Formats: sequence, C-alpha cells, structure tokens
Amino acid sequence: MAARLVQYSAALIVCGMVFASPSLSPPVVAKTTNYGDLIDPGLNRDSCTSALWNKNVLWVCRDTQQVLKNGSIGHHLVANTASFSGFPSSPSHPKQLLLSSPQGYGPLFYAFEKDECSAGGCGDNVCGPGICGDGTRWVGWPDTTPLVVKRGLFGWVDAYGFMAKQRLRGLEVLNSTGNSLFKVTSRFPGENIIPSTTMHIDAFWSPTEVGYGTACHVIHDGIAYLYGGTPNAKLAVARVDLSRGSIEDRKSYEFYVNGTWTRKTPLFTDPGIILPNTSQKQGTIYYSPKWQSFVWIGGDSFPDANAYISTAPKAEGPWSTPQQFYSGAVGNGTLPCVLGARASQPDGRYGRLYIHLVDEDPPGPCNRLRCV
Ligand SMILES: *[C@@H]1O[C@H](CO)[C@@H](O)[C@H](O)[C@H]1NC(C)=O
Ligand SMILES: *[C@@H]1O[C@H](CO)[C@@H](O)[C@H](O)[C@H]1NC(C)=O
Ligand SMILES: *[C@@H]1O[C@H](CO)[C@@H](O)[C@H](O)[C@H]1NC(C)=O
Ligand SMILES: *[C@@H]1O[C@H](CO)[C@@H](O)[C@H](O)[C@H]1NC(C)=O
Ligand SMILES: *[C@@H]1O[C@H](CO)[C@@H](O)[C@H](O)[C@H]1NC(C)=O
Repeated sequence: MAARLVQYSAALIVCGMVFASPSLSPPVVAKTTNYGDLIDPGLNRDSCTSALWNKNVLWVCRDTQQVLKNGSIGHHLVANTASFSGFPSSPSHPKQLLLSSPQGYGPLFYAFEKDECSAGGCGDNVCGPGICGDGTRWVGWPDTTPLVVKRGLFGWVDAYGFMAKQRLRGLEVLNSTGNSLFKVTSRFPGENIIPSTTMHIDAFWSPTEVGYGTACHVIHDGIAYLYGGTPNAKLAVARVDLSRGSIEDRKSYEFYVNGTWTRKTPLFTDPGIILPNTSQKQGTIYYSPKWQSFVWIGGDSFPDANAYISTAPKAEGPWSTPQQFYSGAVGNGTLPCVLGARASQPDGRYGRLYIHLVDEDPPGPCNRLRCV
C-alpha cells in the first residue's frame, strides 16, 4: 500500500461477513454487518492488523499520531503501536469496538534497531527513532500480526514478529537490509499491559531471501506456515513443524520450491518459489475447519475497497483464482480507501469473519461505508 507518509486518520471499520453455502465455489457472502469505526481514543493510525491474543484481540498498527484536544493531528509520528480490544459483539447487535492503549502515546511496539537512525538525529519535531537527519526514514511498519505459537494460563502468550529493515526517501526504497525476528510475549492477563517485544535475531532473513512470515502466517495441525512476498508481489511459503522445531531456529524451516518442500533456503529471485494465484497485497490466510481449506482474503490494488477470496486444500496450494466478493465505496481524498483485510479469528462453525477498512482524515464516503 502506498502513500503512508501523508498524515491522515486511520478510521477503521469492521465488517462482519457471513459466508453462505461453503460448498459453492467461490464462497458467496450471505450477509455483512457494519460495526462502525473502531473507537481509538486520541489516536490517528494507519493499517492496523489484528490477532487473537489471549481472551482478547491484539491490534498492531503502523504510523500513529496523536489527536490533539482541538481535534488537529499532531506532527509527531510513532512508526508502530499496539492496543487491545475485546471481541466483536454478535452481528444481531453490532457495537463499536473500543481499543485500549494503556501505554499511552509515545512508545514504539517494535523498537528500531541500532543501524536504523537513533532518536535525536535531526532536531525538529518530526524527528525520532527511525527518522534520519537527511529526511529519509526507516519504516518500522509491520505488515502482519505477531504469530502466536503458545497460549498458556494466566495470560501467558508467546509470539514472534517479522519486521522488514527498509529505508525510504518518500516512498522510494533506498535500502532493504533483510527482515529481523522479534519475540513478543505477554505474561499478564487482561488489557492493562501491552505485550513486550525484543529484537531477537537481526536480519533473520537476509536481503537476498524472502521475508517469510512478514506477509501473513497460519498455524494448522501444529505446523506454522509463513508467507513472504516475491519480487512480482506474489507469495512464497516456508513451514516449521512446531512439535519438533522452533520459529527462531533456521534449521527448523522447509521451503516450498518447484513443487516440493526443501531444507535449502531459496533465493528470493528463484521463480520456483512463486505460488500461482496468490498476492502479497494486504491479505490474511487462515484455515477454515468449516470448509476444510486454507482461505486467503485480501485486496487487489491501492486505493480501493475491493475484497477477494481464494481457497486451497494445502497451505502451498493450489490456490483458486481470487474472486471478488465485496466492493465498498471509496472517498475522494489522496487516500480514499484501503482494505485492511485482516480477517480476525474466523468463526469456524458459522463461517463468519471480520475485515476492516482504513481511510483518510477527514473521513470520506469510505468511512461511512454501508455493508450490505
Ligand atoms: C490545535 O492545537 C495545536 C497545538 O496547540 C496547534 O498547533 C494547532 O494550530 C491547533 N489547530 C487548530 C485548527 O486550532
Ligand atoms: C543504503 O543505500 C545507500 C545508497 O543506495 C548506501 O550508500 C548506504 O550505504 C546504504 N546503507 C545501508 C545501511 O545499507
Ligand atoms: C527451480 O526451478 C527453476 C526453473 O527451472 C530453477 O531456475 C531453480 O534453480 C529451481 N530451484 C531449485 C531450488 O531447485
Ligand atoms: C489460477 O490457477 C489456475 C490453475 O493453475 C490457472 O488456470 C489460473 O489462470 C490462475 N489464475 C490466475 C489469476 O493466476
Ligand atoms: C469529497 O467528498 C466529500 C464527502 O462526500 C464531499 O463533501 C466533497 O465535496 C468531495 N470533494 C470533491 C473535491 O469532490
């Protein structure tokens, strides 16, 4: 998604969608419910992603700004932040979701690394970690949620986050120095303490490798499938058997190349890693017990509010040709509407899922999108 450097508000709309007739291919949307904007007091945010955490939902967002008392947006920018919410209410009584941000405005969720322009480098009010004195910035933009590998008692959650190390001038990529692995942990129940994050392995994936785990991920039958973007904006996949290996151990990984799983890490330019019919663009993959298949929900291009669905019997495919199942109205600003199609935990029994949409400030029609 482009145009992340403009200052705008990330109004989030949650639409609950119920798919009917799962045996039909492609699935058909039976009903959608508009839950209205997420209530995110005092914050203006871009591209939030959501994950089932413990008994709540963790939202991790990109560029976050403060909404000042007079309603204007502050100049200072935090590259990524996190909040908690509860679960969406029943579609028969849709209520807005309230996000809580107990850490207040300021702290990063994923810290910048030492080689990514430390704080205080340029002296004006938009300077900060990741912002360099020459006007370039390291982005610190998570593309997807942390991957939860373990949920324990008393709020204990272990997860991993993959973050691209990328420096931009405007939207031009100057440096891509790989993808780092972060550990994300919660040791307390409830919404009062945002999970802690530590950078665990710098450049876990090198600049010549796919950033597996950065685009989306799913765990099914104890195997973690980690997807990353290819140079032509499709997906490639790697897997880790969590009963025998670990996300942080490179030796645990297998890669899908030329139709088979192999232990040797392919180059990101290897044409054999590309999964036909997939797209890197703002998508989520999950496993649907109801349909007994892997499901991808995502967008096509920026800016619009078109949502597509594709299914596959296995994580590596074959993926069906994506079918558009939803199209929302867009606004008329520089950032009219962007699909943040991050399906929250789907309800396997009812085939229900939630997507959210992002648009700019002041809100255009997208913000008042009616889901029908
Ligand atoms: C809102 O308040 C900020 C900070 O005090 C100020 O810089 C800005 O000009 C104000 N905006 C409006 C529209 O009054
Ligand atoms: C980033 O790219 C610039 C020019 O493309 C180069 O001079 C610089 O050394 C690179 N920095 C890093 C950290 O890779
Ligand atoms: C996969 O196939 C392509 C095209 O035939 C080839 O260039 C590439 O080396 C193969 N990759 C591996 C890891 O065997
Ligand atoms: C999806 O995959 C099928 C089977 O490989 C192929 O026929 C079709 O052209 C693909 N569609 C797209 C959009 O790539
Ligand atoms: C953009 O959309 C808003 C809301 O519908 C409308 O009030 C405004 O006139 C439109 N602006 C332009 C330039 O079309």
